[in-house]
Amino acid sequence: MQADGVDASLVNDVHEAAGFAGVIFLGGLADFKTTDQALDVNRRAFEAARSLACSESETQLFVTVSDLGGHFGLDGSASTVTMWSSGLTGLTRTASLEWPACDIRAIDIERGTQDAWSVADAIATELIAGGAEPEVGLTADGTRRVLITAEAPVQTGGRLPLGPSDVVVVSGGARGVTATTMIELAGASGATFVLLGRSVLADEPASCAGATTDAEVKKALLSDSLAAGEKIDPKELSWRAQGVLAAREVRATIASIANVGGKARYIAVDITDQPAVAAAFESIRAQEGPITGVVHGAGVLADKLIAEQSDEAFHKVFTTKVKGLQVLLDATAADQLKVLCLFSSVAAHSGNRGQAAYAIANEVLNKVASTERARRGSSCVVKALGWGPWDGGMVTPALKAHFEEMGVSLIGLDEGAKALVDEIASSQVGEVELVLGGGLLGTPPQ
Ligand SMILES: NC(=O)c1ccc[n+]([C@@H]2O[C@H](COP(=O)([O-])OP(=O)(O)OC[C@H]3O[C@@H](n4cnc5c(N)ncnc54)[C@H](OP(=O)(O)O)[C@@H]3O)[C@@H](O)[C@H]2O)c1
Repeated sequence: MQADGVDASLVNDVHEAAGFAGVIFLGGLADFKTTDQALDVNRRAFEAARSLACSESETQLFVTVSDLGGHFGLDGSASTVTMWSSGLTGLTRTASLEWPACDIRAIDIERGTQDAWSVADAIATELIAGGAEPEVGLTADGTRRVLITAEAPVQTGGRLPLGPSDVVVVSGGARGVTATTMIELAGASGATFVLLGRSVLADEPASCAGATTDAEVKKALLSDSLAAGEKIDPKELSWRAQGVLAAREVRATIASIANVGGKARYIAVDITDQPAVAAAFESIRAQEGPITGVVHGAGVLADKLIAEQSDEAFHKVFTTKVKGLQVLLDATAADQLKVLCLFSSVAAHSGNRGQAAYAIANEVLNKVASTERARRGSSCVVKALGWGPWDGGMVTPALKAHFEEMGVSLIGLDEGAKALVDEIASSQVGEVELVLGGGLLGTPPQ
């Protein structure tokens, strides 16, 4: 770049630089020895972007560079370790929406046997003389590729690979939209579902009988506390009420699965707690039998613009999705899975203001799904479902109103549940990373 007259310098940390007009994040080119090293690149890229967002310079350029084989990991050729570094496009897509005046790109280059100079030359050439496309893949043979999103209607009426003897473990499956889809899948398969979530399935106080809304449950719990002479602060009251409502939702999901012909059990466990999940899986094998399906639906939101996102919030959002997936894959390393279904989001595909951490995490899910598909072969249906917003789950009434104002149509509960069953039953097993949703898809990355 210097040879081309660009005032460029190499630093280990954006904080070491001053007066810069752009950042090219090269962390994705590292030779990762462990999954944790690869995973950490997502956080470091986010930190570089946040430093840039907080800097006083008039930023003109933000670029991430990865080595997922020059195909952004879509061909399954990147190593199973490197694949965990694949969230960078979730970051650039979100940054493009948050910083519309900035030139933002993601380059995926196949290092292969190329020496460092050749790699550097290819990156510099792309930045200085390449086209305007925000996402460019460069393979070692000199081929340049860009990503497009193609419409691909699902072929319905296929054979579901699950039946009554199958056991499906579902993170986040007792509540929210994952629960809705699992009820549909139970009706179609008659399988057994073991649902994992953090909520504790405790008996509720007798005073809550008949109280249905959040306010009514709080009122009942407050009168219990007053009667017992206990002082309770509003935060604690809210937490207890949420516990009562969450346990009800879990019980309702178990009952609904049984009503449609499936079986269900709930285990209270945090999906990021590896030893606890391993123990839960042992109990499932002993009680329900061999595990043949995994659905990863656990997720949390903590939306903030890149410049304002705390390390803690980034960690919470990223870890629930990504460490959760790592733990699930480790726990089922020796199981012959027929289905591996990851709940991803359209935010990974298109970016979303305030959702950098969420987009990065879901993009890792998308790309790890491609690797899993390549590794497991055709005996396992692998899907990363990039849902648009649903009319339920984490879409609160306020968010719903926001989407409606933007003219974005929400995925209905029945519609989304049927879509999941159709995808798993579809013969289109090579279509791993998908986006599903009405009018929100917007302009795909060109
Ligand atoms: N709703 C949408 O519009 C939408 C759109 C795109 C993608 N998605 C994806 O779909 C999935 C479900 O979303 P939702 O809307 O149904 O969200 P939700 O209502 O907030 O449900 C999230 C689920 O994840 C569980 N969970 C969260 N952290 C967990 C942890 N550490 N360990 C175990 N379970 C955990 C929750 O159970 P506990 O609280 O009991 O732990 C709950 O069952 C998420 O992965 C989300 O990213 C949703």
